[in-house]
Amino acid sequence: MRITATVNGEARQADDVWEGESLLYVLRERMGLPGSKNACEQGECGSCTVYLDDTAVCACLVAAGQAQGRAIVTVEGLARGDVLHPVQQAFVEAGAVQCGFCTPGLLIAAHDLLRGGRRPTDAEVREALAGNLCRCTGYEKILEAVRLAADRWEEDPS
Ligand code: FES
Ligand code: FES
Repeated sequence: MRITATVNGEARQADDVWEGESLLYVLRERMGLPGSKNACEQGECGSCTVYLDDTAVCACLVAAGQAQGRAIVTVEGLARGDVLHPVQQAFVEAGAVQCGFCTPGLLIAAHDLLRGGRRPTDAEVREALAGNLCRCTGYEKILEAVRLAADRWEEDPS
């Protein structure tokens, strides 16, 4: 089947998609967007998190056909051209990226939290990111990155 969708603001199409394929597979293997990571493929790790019609979802759990005609934003779509999004920049500056496998999903989840407009407490950050597993950082640097991003979000909410 053919899937057409708006991906990171552009009309995209994938042909010969098998009914059992996930949105994650289509994004990575058919649309050349490897930012969203495939770690568990079972909805357990959050590394594949993307926005689907403005809701953060695990792309590994979304059947490709469910994405037909919808709007998807991946981690690649957060950056403003060549300039990292402030959330991305905060993760770099705080040292919250080690192997980086969890990072794309964490960035979408952190973006989703901060776009609510209210500065989250540490407990709220932990709760919001609870579905995103990281084996490397111990999470403290990730918390630090979200605090830093929240500071900047207040100055430039977008
Ligand atoms: S790869 Fe989708 S939740 Fe782990
Ligand atoms: S940085 Fe390696 S899993 Fe999070």
